[in-house]
Amino acid sequence: MRIAIGADHAGFPLKEPTVRWLMERGYDVHDVGTFDEGVSVDYPDFAAKVTESVAAGEATYGVLFCGTGLGMAIAANKAQGIRAVTCHDVTSARFARQHNDANVLTMGGRLAAPELAQEVLATFLETRFEGGRHQRRVEEISGLERS
Ligand code: RB5
Repeated sequence: MRIAIGADHAGFPLKEPTVRWLMERGYDVHDVGTFDEGVSVDYPDFAAKVTESVAAGEATYGVLFCGTGLGMAIAANKAQGIRAVTCHDVTSARFARQHNDANVLTMGGRLAAPELAQEVLATFLETRFEGGRHQRRVEEISGLERS
């Protein structure tokens, strides 16, 4: 499974250990940067790169880190076909997959330690969308994008 991952300078401390963690588990990781914590960058640039990859079907899921995860989610949700969620607990991550078919997970480097981020990400990646009544609602969200 291919995962596109990106961060700004504030999310960088979560991205580096998470990239290694994903690779150790056999995921194919597409790291779009940033690659230097010391240089201030704008999070929407990295949200755009990751969502492009997910929307094009090149990556199954996207992972984005900024200071809080919030700006990344707002930016990512501007892209067609993207359902980005900010989760800092495993229960939210599980429901985001089961009910919302979320395809991008965002977290904050200023809010979560790498161990928590990896626990939340593991739940996100391993939980399947339940479909059924949730499928209709996700299709309604797609309808809102078109209207
Ligand atoms: C950068 O200082 C910070 O604003 C950004 O990483 C993010 O938290 C925005 O949502």
